[in-house]
Amino acid sequence: MTSTAVSYDRATELKAFDETKAGVKGLVDAGITKIPPLFVRAPETTTTSKPLMHTSIQIPIIDLEGRHADVIEEIRSAAETFGLFHVTNHGIPLMVMEEMVAGVRRFHEEDLDVKKKYYTRDLSQKVGFNTNSDFYRSKAADWRDTLRCVMAPEEPKPEEMPLAFREIIFEYANYIKKLGIVLLELLSEALGLNRDHLNKMDFNKGLELLGHYYPPCPDPELTLGTSRHSDPDFLTILLEDHIGGLQVLHQHHWIDVPPLAGALVVNIGDLLQLISNDRFKSAEHRVIAKSIGPRISVACFFRAYDGKEYGPIKELISCGSPPLYKAVTVRDYVTLFMILREQDQKSALGFFKL
Ligand code: OGA
Ligand code: NI
Repeated sequence: MTSTAVSYDRATELKAFDETKAGVKGLVDAGITKIPPLFVRAPETTTTSKPLMHTSIQIPIIDLEGRHADVIEEIRSAAETFGLFHVTNHGIPLMVMEEMVAGVRRFHEEDLDVKKKYYTRDLSQKVGFNTNSDFYRSKAADWRDTLRCVMAPEEPKPEEMPLAFREIIFEYANYIKKLGIVLLELLSEALGLNRDHLNKMDFNKGLELLGHYYPPCPDPELTLGTSRHSDPDFLTILLEDHIGGLQVLHQHHWIDVPPLAGALVVNIGDLLQLISNDRFKSAEHRVIAKSIGPRISVACFFRAYDGKEYGPIKELISCGSPPLYKAVTVRDYVTLFMILREQDQKSALGFFKL
């Protein structure tokens, strides 16, 4: 009997794995040499499938200290096409970035007894870690563990934070909040709006930090580190180490986003696509699994569960450019996004189209 012919009770296996509270890293520590069936994807959704990579295309690199008019133009172009770009001269010291990555790594590599206390699937907890937030919904699990910290509107108390990164996370989040304001000013101008327009909408009052840990994988071609998706937020700022693996879908081709030392990756989220009335594109992206690692990344999501309805910005609507979406609350959007993960949908935007 081949391994694909073996039937197994997925629900039972999911639960048994979840109850170890040890994550994917626990499997690697236990010395597995094959990935469990839970993580095996349908072949057409792995990296060996089409669409193929297109390597001549370069991800935009935007120097935030460049000439103001140039920066606006570069951001406009990148946000309208790729929905994802690198930023340099962003104001976050290299030491702070390196220490944040090191802190996330220390957490995931902590003794299981310490780490287990934070294992949860309860999103009302401000600090917690698990393997894939969509673990029980997705068709195949991703080769990744994630620590989640809600840093705004109210940040956790220091004593709620794991010791592994307690010293750095507040400082890092403060830098990210400031950079978020700068990016939203630039994006406002890129849309032809007043500089403070997007900041005044206040969605950047909410910030979630996701500290991902991608252990080395014995069968990288059978699974993914993060399956294809676009982010269910307004804006994401991503910090990653030197391992690589992030890819963005551009004109039906997966393109590598090679790590750029000292730079950060910025991507447009679904809700910014919605309020910009499709002027900006949320980037569809994924992370491939690798035999090397671990890879560490830290994604900061700007979104506020403020109960407000967000629809296309009035100033961007005209006779020639009618609204394309209904207004939606962040909670409703994220809830639907999670439900649609069952069907391998990249986003929930289509659902809110007028
Ligand atoms: C995410 C994400 C990419 C990465 O957190 O939404 O896409 O490189 N992360 O970890
Ligand atoms: Ni993402």
